[in-house]
Amino acid sequence: MEQEKAENLKNLEEGVKGCSNCQLRKGCRQVVFGEGNPHALIMLVGEGPGGEEDKQGRPFVGAAGKLLDKILEAINTDRQEVYIANVVKCRPPNNRNPAPEEIKACYPHLQKQIEIIKPKIIISLGAVPAKILIDPKAQITRLRGKWVEKDEFKIMPTFHPAALLRDPKKKKPVWQDFQEVEREYKKY
Ligand code: URA
Repeated sequence: MEQEKAENLKNLEEGVKGCSNCQLRKGCRQVVFGEGNPHALIMLVGEGPGGEEDKQGRPFVGAAGKLLDKILEAINTDRQEVYIANVVKCRPPNNRNPAPEEIKACYPHLQKQIEIIKPKIIISLGAVPAKILIDPKAQITRLRGKWVEKDEFKIMPTFHPAALLRDPKKKKPVWQDFQEVEREYKKY
């Protein structure tokens, strides 16, 4: 069982690396599958890889990722303990938002990651994951900070760390959202 999750993720990753379900793969350097603890209770879901992620093949390793590392540290966890993935695994050109058909094509990969890892808490970063995980009409400003209960896990929607870099007023609400996550996490 312990070994199984890691193996299943590895097999899934191999499949996703060969994916050509949408046009994005042609325009990016590499697939950014996701990384972290296969047994994580907390999973973070971002939008899609940016330039640095595309270069390194790892999620959240650019400026937004550095801020995310600090936020995780503030709630006494880190990348080794959680699992980090994105809605789309290939960088959209010029960092535009992924198009609805690209999201639709890639979503099954995220669903399988969730199925394998079975997190108790999903932190949804920004509007793109909130729309696919919670509600297609989701407005992140309205939704953020309130738990969304699903059968298998709870989702905490919050702002994307890149939004915090643009607008420091968002730091306080995100801080509150992550503290709420820490409170919930301590129950497990
Ligand atoms: N933004 C995201 O949504 N995901 C990343 O991996 C990096 C930046």
